Amino acid sequence: MANTILVGAQWGDEGKGKIIDVLTGKADIVVRSQGGNNAGHTVIQGGRKYILHLIPSGILRRGKICVIGNGVVIDPVALVAEIEGLRKVGIEIGKNLLISDCAHLVLPYHRALDEQRELRKDHAKIGTTKRGIGPAYGDKAARTGLRMADLMQPDVFTKKLQAKMRENNSILKALGARPISFTKVNEDLLAAGEKLRPFVANTVVYLHRALQKGKEVLFEGAQGTFLDIDHGTYPYVTSSNTTAGGACTGTGVPPHRMDRVVGVMKAYTTRVGEGALPTEDPAIAGMLHEMGREFGATTGRARRCGWFDAVATRYATMINGIDELAITNLDGLDRLDPIKICVAYRLNGEILEVPPSDAAQWKRCQPIYLEMPGWKRSIEKVKKFANLPNEAKSYVRRIAELTGPRLTMISVGPARGQTLFL
Ligand code: IMP
Repeated sequence: MANTILVGAQWGDEGKGKIIDVLTGKADIVVRSQGGNNAGHTVIQGGRKYILHLIPSGILRRGKICVIGNGVVIDPVALVAEIEGLRKVGIEIGKNLLISDCAHLVLPYHRALDEQRELRKDHAKIGTTKRGIGPAYGDKAARTGLRMADLMQPDVFTKKLQAKMRENNSILKALGARPISFTKVNEDLLAAGEKLRPFVANTVVYLHRALQKGKEVLFEGAQGTFLDIDHGTYPYVTSSNTTAGGACTGTGVPPHRMDRVVGVMKAYTTRVGEGALPTEDPAIAGMLHEMGREFGATTGRARRCGWFDAVATRYATMINGIDELAITNLDGLDRLDPIKICVAYRLNGEILEVPPSDAAQWKRCQPIYLEMPGWKRSIEKVKKFANLPNEAKSYVRRIAELTGPRLTMISVGPARGQTLFL
């Protein structure tokens, strides 16, 4: 299996949860390195649907160790609720979960600020998940954040929280929002901290020791390449490095320990929130929503949908160094004929083979499509690549050709068994 970074090659929601679950079978340790509970990884196991927000999907398999790395931002109360929710349905959580003591905390004022900034009319709306992710990473970069290590020292934490809340309450008041009561928040957080205490560790040291012993690690990416704070459609991005490099900085594992990068691409394109999506097409969105697909796992919002964008995904392959490709949701295209793939953009009379850096220009790009015949039948029961309709085989091969990596997995439905290997 080797040490594997798994990344989303589009705007998130590529179906990473399902592919991570398949790859987890071969890993010893599964690690989250960035993002927070803005993520929603859906895994279907034994007929039951699980949505994981902060805990790596490996938790659903016995004997796997799950690590929440230093690059993740953690809402302690939400994490406790997630642990308790999983325990209620019989998932064992004990020595199989480690939480970095360096991970930054998402606190109630981060959520309130996220909401206020989205509400303010003079501020370009990003369409965030309102989980406080941006303000929490903002504090981290400004060096004023609180970390898990602080929460493990109640006296230190209470003092720091009090100062932070004073500052943030005055900002909230200035924005016309209600200030947050310190006492209740402090109590709730300290109680959550005690419940998390058994899991908190120096995860960098843990991972290095495990690697020395030959353990194999899967780095589970959250969100997708074009939501990356550096490489995405800025400012319509999340606040972390969702690209492969984030797996190193968010865990303390150096680049030379990484053996391969698996990129997940949905067979079409979706996006939640604002920002460029050149191949957006209400006709596909209508069909997918009617099929009950493409509603956000975290917020329930209907996702924007469009055709496969090979310009964006080729770029994602380059940035992440994607070696292997997993194509998901191929069955979502069962009813469509013809099926389009965007192979270049047209902008101001020029043909572009790579996306423009400026989000406003990207938004104005017109897709240039090639068309392929659809297969017009259900493929959800297909068990082998060889048994896919020829049109479906040609479609996925064309995607691999246009984007570059070696095609190794195709998903034709949400269950573990609905995965075809090449
Ligand atoms: P934030 O991460 O909540 O700040 O949201 C910033 C942008 O990233 C918004 O467009 C969100 O819809 C998007 N986003 C954040 N997390 C996810 C995810 O897990 N899947 C898809 N989009 C996401």
